[in-house]
Amino acid sequence: MSTKKPLRSQAWFGRQDKMGFYYRSFLKNRGFPQDQFEGRPVIGICNTWSELNPCNSHFRTIAEHVRYGVLDAGGFPLEFPVSSLGEVTMRPTAMLYRNLASMDVEEAVRAHPLDGVVLLMGCDKTTPALLMGAASADLPSIGVSGGPQLRGVYQGRTIGSGTNIISMSEQLRAGEITLEEFHEAEAGMNRSSGHCMTMGTASTMASMVEALGVSLPGNAAIPAVDARRNELARFSGRRIVEMVREDLVLSKILTREAFENAIRTLAAIGGSTNAVVHLLAIARRVGVDLTLDDFDRLGKGVHCLVDLMPSGRFLMEDFYYAGGLPVVLRTLVEQGLLHEQALTANGRTMGENVKTAPCWNTEVITSFEAPFKPEAGIAILRGNLAPDGAVIKPSAASPELMNHTGRAVVFESVEDLHHAVDDDSLDIDASCVMVLKYCGPKGYPGMAEVGNMPLPQKLLREGVRDMIRISDARMSGTAYGTVVLHVAPEAAAGGPLALVRNGDLITLDVAAGRLHLHVSDEDLAARRAAWVPPAPAATRGYTKLYVEHVLQANEGADLDFLVGRSGAAVPRDNH
Ligand code: FES
Repeated sequence: MSTKKPLRSQAWFGRQDKMGFYYRSFLKNRGFPQDQFEGRPVIGICNTWSELNPCNSHFRTIAEHVRYGVLDAGGFPLEFPVSSLGEVTMRPTAMLYRNLASMDVEEAVRAHPLDGVVLLMGCDKTTPALLMGAASADLPSIGVSGGPQLRGVYQGRTIGSGTNIISMSEQLRAGEITLEEFHEAEAGMNRSSGHCMTMGTASTMASMVEALGVSLPGNAAIPAVDARRNELARFSGRRIVEMVREDLVLSKILTREAFENAIRTLAAIGGSTNAVVHLLAIARRVGVDLTLDDFDRLGKGVHCLVDLMPSGRFLMEDFYYAGGLPVVLRTLVEQGLLHEQALTANGRTMGENVKTAPCWNTEVITSFEAPFKPEAGIAILRGNLAPDGAVIKPSAASPELMNHTGRAVVFESVEDLHHAVDDDSLDIDASCVMVLKYCGPKGYPGMAEVGNMPLPQKLLREGVRDMIRISDARMSGTAYGTVVLHVAPEAAAGGPLALVRNGDLITLDVAAGRLHLHVSDEDLAARRAAWVPPAPAATRGYTKLYVEHVLQANEGADLDFLVGRSGAAVPRDNH
């Protein structure tokens, strides 16, 4: 078995001395024969399986199919666990631990006798965490997503993860449905393995994996329980062995062109705003200087081509049956909007992979000429309220609010919001702008998904279903509304958001990319002089490290000392 350069794993297993005995002997306790250690590429199957993360709870099965593929191709598979981040189970927010999990991945990959890695990713933060860690280690790596759940069904109609939780909880608060109906819908929504089946953050990030070229074509949309998901896992296991032989390290795939492809794809799928933060963080791990301006520049002129929740009607299962992401990528290539020469994990270019991708349902995946929503990429906002930027997802917003000036109603914290929002004495009407502070990376801490604030009950009763909401928080990818997010600098870092007061006028003008607070520079300076920074959110442990080192949203909210990569040089002996 020949390779261009010696296998990294041979620094462990190829030694004919005391250390070689240690390295081989202890693994032989599972019955691996001697020839297993003699030149087979060792493939780590990096598994985020966890019963605490329901979206990844089927990953043992996927790992087995990857293992078959690695064995098919003559590799030596070794599965290992890393932190798993369950979006709905972790508090205060899984995002607090994304960077920690990325450290776990990077260090595990570097410390062990691995030549290549298969990254098993599903629930929202597991995908960026694994990509960030793998990028900093920079071995040959291939992504395999766990796949979305089957579509939710309740009372004979389709319901989508997150999206219908939000709408049904608003209906419950408005008295339009009963608590019994609410409970019954829960099991109907989550009726199979897999991650959220709307185009939320998990499906968006699975699409980003495919658009970046890190996975085999088709990875984004195959349902978790479809046999073809296991087939893709097996093919990925075979392919990673070849990638090791070709020395196709991750940094050869994660180029600037790949990120530009991902940004345009993000616009074309009406993807989650969370992808902005994650792509910025992943890019900075491989030295690609991606900025919010790239999202602004590249998103322009790209139409949303998929009629998927939360912006539209259909779900990921429908997307797969319609042809999946390859159809979107082909359409963008035909428009000259993708770098078709970008290299992908299967060794072929993006253009070669998608040029014949057929579309089976033009209702679900529209043409570029008659798009689902024109010009719907994530918009970047700037102004005296967000000097370093903020984001909004126009495809999920109300057109009549896209250029609006309103009176600020300010909440100093999430607790303040929850305490006050349903108080009928709250001085608020539908024209107001709801402002939430101290929910950014340092402030919450972890930048929670609380930006799509619940609307006041008294306004829900009047039939109001959307208002402008502004915060330094994030928003679930399954959510919708005219919601301005990721305001930077955040309030806890002394950003102007901290200085907003009840009654201030705020203008949102999405077309002009403007977010303006109608308070003079002099008044803002006076408010700043009187501003008292909040006490640090933690005094010990990982959270202290996080708060002291986390970067702002416009820089990917990574830890400052994790930016960049250290590679996978073989570490020193441990004896
Ligand atoms: Fe895991 Fe939505 S909660 S993907």
